[in-house]
Amino acid sequence: MSVTVRVPAKVNVQLGVGAARPDGFHDLANVFLAVGLYDEVTVTPAEELRVTCAGPDAASVPLDRTNLAARAALALAGRRGIEPAVHLHIAKDIPVAGGMAGGSADGAGALVACDALWGTGATRAELLDICAELGSDVPFSLVGGAALGTGRGEKLAPLEVGGTFHWVFAMAERGLSTPAVFREFDRLTEGREIPAPEADPTLLTALSKGDPEALAAALTNDLQPAALSLYPELAATLATGRQAGALATLVSGSGPTTAFLVPDATTATRVAQALEDSGTCRTTRTAAGPVPGATIL
Ligand code: C5P
Repeated sequence: MSVTVRVPAKVNVQLGVGAARPDGFHDLANVFLAVGLYDEVTVTPAEELRVTCAGPDAASVPLDRTNLAARAALALAGRRGIEPAVHLHIAKDIPVAGGMAGGSADGAGALVACDALWGTGATRAELLDICAELGSDVPFSLVGGAALGTGRGEKLAPLEVGGTFHWVFAMAERGLSTPAVFREFDRLTEGREIPAPEADPTLLTALSKGDPEALAAALTNDLQPAALSLYPELAATLATGRQAGALATLVSGSGPTTAFLVPDATTATRVAQALEDSGTCRTTRTAAGPVPGATIL
């Protein structure tokens, strides 16, 4: 017997970042959109906890207990006083260290899969609690759709979305570490007054209307200067997508994946091709959102 859970990637259509807090985290106004690019986590009973991974980026996925999928299984088993004796297999399609919440997706997926396999009957609230312990973006991977994340990003309020938004994502040659990007943000903003981050009402209206042009005009990412500072080559990728017809370009989360909002699926294919031809990225994917969060298949 096994359980498979499919979990989407995310793009941040707004990533408002405040000053570093005493605990080292930053207060955020984080508008998440789940997009149709997925990891699948399959859990099967086993002698002991084991993680395997397949997919283009599998070689850079840790298979020990630092993997968020393993940590999710350990957290739920620990709460129930049971042995986490499972094999977790991750079929990975979301880029690793890419700013698209791939690790978080695996954590949320493993949690939902173990809950179903073990019949632990955790409530949605308990699952969200465990997700928040695992990482700031993990609760959103569970719920999907679109949501405003505040606090360190883990306090979620669902958002209405009035249509489907089409995207192209360009994967970079190497990854960026999220803590390193936040440290660079701190360095770049040192000595400056940083206002408390707030969701942009214009952006929320664009989402609720399903209006890609209005959303394009409102996209922002306060981590973008830090990601570009650590990975200057991304500027050429952004420029290429813009010239090829994207309505707007942005670094996804802490990067280095770059995101291109396009009016429709046809433009998505054209922009993706132009990016691939330019040699300014490793590979591209097209995806639309919002899509549902962690789902048992
Ligand atoms: O919560 P998560 O483990 O995903 O965070 C990874 C790192 O990103 C944190 O250790 C911290 O350096 C940074 N971070 C932050 N503020 C947030 C979320 C993450 O500084 N709101």
